[in-house]
Formats: sequence, structure tokens, C-alpha cells
Amino acid sequence: MKKLLLTGASGFLGYNTCLLGSSSWAVWGIARSDFVKPAGVNLIRADLTHSARLRRVFSEVQPDAVIHTAAASRLDWCRDNPEESFRINVQASVLIAELCGEASIPCVFTSSDMVFDGFNAPYGEEDPVCPASVYGEQKVLAEEGMKRVYPRVVICRMPLMFGDPGPVSFNFFQDMIDAFKTGRELKLFTDEFRTPVSAETAAGGLFLALEKGRGILHLGGRERISRHDFGLLTAEVMGLSKARIIPCLRKDIPMAALRPPDLSLDSSRAFALGYRPLTLREQLLKLIPSPHASGLELPH
Ligand SMILES: NC(=O)c1ccc[n+]([C@@H]2O[C@H](COP(=O)([O-])OP(=O)(O)OC[C@H]3O[C@@H](n4cnc5c(N)ncnc54)[C@H](OP(=O)(O)O)[C@@H]3O)[C@@H](O)[C@H]2O)c1
Repeated sequence: MKKLLLTGASGFLGYNTCLLGSSSWAVWGIARSDFVKPAGVNLIRADLTHSARLRRVFSEVQPDAVIHTAAASRLDWCRDNPEESFRINVQASVLIAELCGEASIPCVFTSSDMVFDGFNAPYGEEDPVCPASVYGEQKVLAEEGMKRVYPRVVICRMPLMFGDPGPVSFNFFQDMIDAFKTGRELKLFTDEFRTPVSAETAAGGLFLALEKGRGILHLGGRERISRHDFGLLTAEVMGLSKARIIPCLRKDIPMAALRPPDLSLDSSRAFALGYRPLTLREQLLKLIPSPHASGLELPH
């Protein structure tokens, strides 16, 4: 089997990518934290901001391909820690592209819909970037730096993702399910839109990008939906109560007014390559019997 080096193996997307990839690749997953790795995955503990360590991992594993999902992915943390987040989001990403270039192997990078400001959706790959956050700016710098050192890198701009966060990560979806189950009130925006996909769907898109991708590829879903409608749909599909979902507007919450209003991606280029996200309802239904739903504790 060919060897895949996967960064961010303990993270939400990385963990789901391990699960999907380990039947057809010998996966070498990199993480900083100690976590229960999926069966069949080789785990390497490394901090990617230590460049000598990163170089050593490449020379020891000698991968045939790389998927780079590791990142400081929380917007507020990047805003408050711009230098530290720059080291993982930009510097480490550029070094990974450089090492892939030296070995002349495929490299897929997970960028974000946050490279846009949300005022001109839907966004295609050719649209000019215009980030509205430190995190978004760092993703743009990583895209540019990686392309400069290794033009063969495939940049996948990921949409909002939902699903099993894995053993150590945490995401908005888990919090939403928890609110539905405990009857906690949840305010959801009726005027913030995305094109979400499940992490499993997104992971499938990353393998497609590894095989057929070139340049930039948007991996959004087929449906544009508000946070509020997504909450209603999730509760309905999961058989949980919608009673405490409160519709609200971004302007009602001061910080939220600064968030991009519509980051919907036009992913027709990926669809043409064979990326086929199911409907949101179907993707949510697939999560219910998941044997890996320990983090979510969904109803069976
Ligand atoms: N989640 C979304 O909805 C979404 C949307 C758009 C784009 N994205 C992008 O998709 C990718 C995956 O996101 P995610 O939600 O899966 O993120 P996540 O759950 O926060 O996971 C981040 C991963 O990065 C690793 N990491 C962070 N700093 C590291 C370092 N210095 N050295 C080694 N590993 C480090 C973490 O390892 P440890 O936990 O072991 O420290 C973890 O495995 C990211 O590039 C993110 O920007 C995500």
C-alpha cells in the first residue's frame, strides 16, 4: 500500500480522513496530543512548528502523498495569538509544501471558505480573496506561500463541516446536539449562510483532490442554508426537540455582526471531477448509526 502522511490526525477533519483513508492507504497520522487512534493508523507525535522535527518525519516516513489538515482553526484564538497561529497556519504549511516539492509527491492542503468576506457569494475558485479575519488572512498567506514553493499543491477550500468530532476535537455540531438533548436554549442566525458538508463527505473530497485535483478546488455542499435552518433540519433528522431553537439576526449579537454573512461556495469544478455530496438530510441520516459517534452520543 502507498503511504499517506496526514497532518492533524487528532482533529475533526483529520480523524474522519484517517477513518476513510485507512482501507486504501497506509496512513501515517501526525498529532500533538495523545489520542485513541483509529485501528490501522500509524501515529506520529510531532509539533509541526518545529521545522527540524517536520523534516525528520518526512525523511523517516518517505510518504507517497500528503494531506495537510493541521491548523489553528479557531478564529478567536488566531485573533488573540497571531504569531503562534502564523507558525502553524502559514510557516508549517509552506514547509510541508516545500518538502512535498523536494520529494515530488502530491500534496493537498485544507484552506477555508474564510478566505472570503461573505459579501459576494457564491464564491468560485477564480474570485478574488478578501479575508475578514486573522485566520482567513493566514489561510490566504498559506495558499500563496505553498503555491510559490510547490506549484503542484492542490488547495481545497473547505466549507463549514459537521459530524463526529473524533476523540479530542470539538465542534459547533457537537454543541448543537448537546443543546437539543439537554433542552438548552440555542440562538441560531437566520441571516448567516454556508454550504456545509459532513466531515466524511469532505474527507472523500480530499482523496478525490489527491487523485484528480489541480490548483484550487472548492469542496462545498450542494445546498446553501442558514445556521437556523440547518439547526431545524438537524433536530428533525435526529429526532430531537426544536422547541428551544431561537431564530436571531447577526445584528442582534454585537460580535456576530462582524462575521461573514454568506460564505457559500460554488463547487461545480469539484462536482465535475466526481465530488458528489449527498443532500444535507442524507448526510445527517448517515451520522445516526455511526459506530464512531462516541463524541456526539447521537440517539440510535
Ligand atoms: N471545521 C470546519 O468547519 C472547517 C471549515 C473550513 C476549513 N477548515 C480547515 O480544515 C482543517 C481541519 O479543521 P478541523 O476542524 O479538523 O480542525 P481541528 O479539529 O481544530 O484540528 C486541528 C488539528 O491540527 C493539529 N495541530 C494544531 N497545531 C499543531 C501543531 N503545532 N503541530 C501539530 N499538529 C497541530 C491538532 O493537533 P492536536 O489537537 O493533537 O494538537 C489537530 O489535529 C483546518 O485546516 C481548518 O482550517 C475547517
